[in-house]
Amino acid sequence: MVPYARRMEYMAFTANVVKGLFGSMTDPNIISFGGGSPARETLPVDTIRQLADEVLRTDGRGVEALQYGPIEGVRDLREVVVRELLAPKGVSCDVENVLILSGGLEAMNLVCQAFIDPGDVILVEAPTFVQSVEIFDMFEARCVSVAMDDDGLIPEDLERKLRENRPKMLYTIPTFQNPSGRTLSLERRRAVAELAERYDVLVLEDDPYRDIRYSGEELPPIKHFDATDHVITAGSFSKIFSPGSRLGYVAAEAGVTRQLAAAKSATNSHTSMLPQILCAEFFKRGFYPAHHRRICDLYRRRRDVMLRCIDRYFPAGTKHSDPDGGLFTWVELPGGIDTTDLLRESTADPAVNVAFLAGEGFFSDRDGQGKNCMRMSFGNTPEELIEEGVRRLGGLICSKLK
Ligand SMILES: Cc1ncc(COP(=O)(O)O)c(C=O)c1O
Repeated sequence: MVPYARRMEYMAFTANVVKGLFGSMTDPNIISFGGGSPARETLPVDTIRQLADEVLRTDGRGVEALQYGPIEGVRDLREVVVRELLAPKGVSCDVENVLILSGGLEAMNLVCQAFIDPGDVILVEAPTFVQSVEIFDMFEARCVSVAMDDDGLIPEDLERKLRENRPKMLYTIPTFQNPSGRTLSLERRRAVAELAERYDVLVLEDDPYRDIRYSGEELPPIKHFDATDHVITAGSFSKIFSPGSRLGYVAAEAGVTRQLAAAKSATNSHTSMLPQILCAEFFKRGFYPAHHRRICDLYRRRRDVMLRCIDRYFPAGTKHSDPDGGLFTWVELPGGIDTTDLLRESTADPAVNVAFLAGEGFFSDRDGQGKNCMRMSFGNTPEELIEEGVRRLGGLICSKLK
């Protein structure tokens, strides 16, 4: 047997965690609060069928859609990012700063290709998005955790870790964070940008949920405060258009964008043309604002039901985050309940049959943090099933505390 490359060993542990986290998500009889998919009702199937019919003509954009395309992405989709997604949030940039990606996750890969050597330190939040850690492992980076509270990562701990570890990069998910649903406060966004400048460290701002805010005040991205080009901001079309289209983007200083484009060229030449063109037309023809209102209304209702039901059915002493957007809440259970065991029981017991993601796997330090925590997604579950699932799960948890 030919040996696998060394990097596969490096990432094996995290890959197993990811497999364990998502392993129970396939049973159709389960009420699942586990996955992070957008609601099936939000996918603009009819609009896309109509657009595809118009676009896929030789006198339309049919040839362009089926031909090779530019590494940086289709120009009018880059313009959409600049004009409709970044400018309204307070990030002013030009098309030259934007690179279209094959899904938001590609940002982590390309940034690592361009900046990370084996042994480099990457600061990550505790908890963080494990699939990004899998990518950091693949590049043989060393992840060091920064503590969080309800307002996101804690600047004092960040500064301590910057001083102690001399990292190359901070990876942060500042808005409706996956998995915690927490949002970095305005003051802390400014503080992160200032610390990045002072310690000359790159910030990868992974912000795929920033466009699905349905309550509270809009906050500018960290990139808004970046006077010295230390911040790369990444976004995604997965939650506002379609995850299967695999579309995302990064915006950075033009030289950095060129380096990322070089890495992309060596990876997959460019992002698929057909989804890019359909997405660009979807925005340019003005479908987005009404679509956006509709998805935000849906998620607001689902969030409200989930939080109300957790308060009602989970035992006293339970804490949960109060997200103003996104798809998740993070729940901390009282009484030393281990959520990995709880998940096993709740999916094995036909009277419960409810899935969620156990908290421990989201902590890259693997030091036992998060054992009593769980990520509960309300995005892709209808309201009546949210109520039923939380009621059943709450019953199981309460019975374990007796
Ligand atoms: C924090 C975070 N980053 C990146 C992604 C990747 O999104 P995409 O589907 O655009 O690759 C996700 C998806 O769930 C996510 O939660």
